[in-house]
Amino acid sequence: MTKLRAAITGVQGYVPDYVLTNQELEGMVDTNDEWITTRTGIKERRILKGEGLGSSDLGAAAVQALLDKKGLSAEEIDCIIFATATPDMIFPATACIIADKVGAKNAFAYDLMAACSGFLFSVLTASKYIETGTYQKIIVVGADKMSSIVDYTDRQTCIIFGDGAGAVLLEPDTNGLGVQDAILKSNGEGRHYLKMTAGGSVKPASSETIANKEHFIHQEGQTVFKFAVKGMADVSAEIMERNQLKGEDIAWLVPHQANKRIIDATANRMGVGTEKVMLNIQRYGNTTNATIPLCLWEWEKQLNKGDNLILAAFGGGFTWGSIYLKWGYDSK
Ligand SMILES: CC(C)(COP(=O)(O)OP(=O)(O)OC[C@H]1O[C@@H](n2cnc3c(N)ncnc32)[C@H](O)[C@@H]1OP(=O)(O)O)[C@@H](O)C(=O)NCCC(=O)NCCS
Repeated sequence: MTKLRAAITGVQGYVPDYVLTNQELEGMVDTNDEWITTRTGIKERRILKGEGLGSSDLGAAAVQALLDKKGLSAEEIDCIIFATATPDMIFPATACIIADKVGAKNAFAYDLMAACSGFLFSVLTASKYIETGTYQKIIVVGADKMSSIVDYTDRQTCIIFGDGAGAVLLEPDTNGLGVQDAILKSNGEGRHYLKMTAGGSVKPASSETIANKEHFIHQEGQTVFKFAVKGMADVSAEIMERNQLKGEDIAWLVPHQANKRIIDATANRMGVGTEKVMLNIQRYGNTTNATIPLCLWEWEKQLNKGDNLILAAFGGGFTWGSIYLKWGYDSK
C-alpha cells in the first residue's frame, strides 16, 4: 500500500447546443475564418442561449450527468468546488446553487476563482482534502458562460471564448494513482492585462460603467500571449524535470485551450509530440474553467489506468500552473 492520493475516478462534460461559427462572427465584426483559424486554431464555439440561464446550469448539467454515469446518489458527495470566472452572481457562491440543483444535500460547496487556472487550483485543493483523509468524494466542476461577459464588437476578444462545463470526481487511492505533483503560481502584476474592470467593490455597476463597456472582458492579447507561452511551458517543463519525466513518459498533455499556438509552444518545450496533445479548441474555443475537464471527457475512452498526464493552464491574475497525475481507471 502506498501513500493516500486523490485519483480522478470519473469525468463528464457538457456543452450547450448553439454553435457560433467563424462564418457567423464574420457577420458581427471585421474578421474572417482564415485569420481566426491561423491565429488561434478556433473554428467554432458553443453558446448558452436562453433567458435566465447561467454558469450554474452548465455546471449542474455536467455534475448530474457525472453522478448518473457513476451510479452515485448526489447525497454521497462530500464537497463541490466550482471553478469559474462567470458566477451566476457575485454571491451566494454558484457552487451552492449547483449543489441545490443536483440535490447534493450533504456537500459543502464553494467557488474558487483563479480565471483560466481555476480548475487546476481546485483539483489541487480537493486532492489535499482527500490526502488528509478528511473527505472521500469530491466533485470539481469547471464551467463558464463566457458569452455573458464577451463584447461582441471587440474582434480581438470575441473570437476566442465559448461556453461549456466539465466535472471530475476525485476519490482516495492507495495504489499509486492520482495527483502526484503540482506547481501552481500567480502574479498580480498581470491583473491589468486580462480583467473585467467593473461590477466589483472598486467599481460597482453604474450607468457610466455600462456605457464604458467595463462589464466585458478586457484583454491585451499580445501581452497575455507572451506571458502565457512562457508561463505554461516553464511550469510544465519544471514539473517533468523534478519528477524525472521525459517526453516519452507522458501519455497525454492536457492543456488549457486558449490559443493553439500557446499549446504548440508548450508541447514543443516538453518534448511531447502533437499526437499526445489533447486539442479541442477548434470546436469549443476557450471555455475558461471548462477546457481541461472537457478534454478529459472527450479523450476518456483513450485513457488507461496509470497513464501519466500533465495538466497545464494559464489565465488572468496572472495565474498558471501544472499538475502531474496518473489516470485513475480504464473506461474502455
Ligand atoms: C488575442 C489573440 C488571438 C490576438 O492574436 P495576435 O496574433 O496577438 O494578434 P494581434 O493583437 O497582434 O493583432 C494582429 C493584427 O490582427 C488584427 N486583428 C485582431 N483581431 C482580429 C480578428 N479577429 N480578425 C482579423 N484581424 C484581427 C489586429 O488589429 C492587428 O492588425 P494590425 O497589425 O493591422 O494592427 C492572441 O493575442 C492571444 O491568443 N492572446 C492570448 C489569449 C490567452 O491566452 N488568454 C489567456 C487565457 S484566457
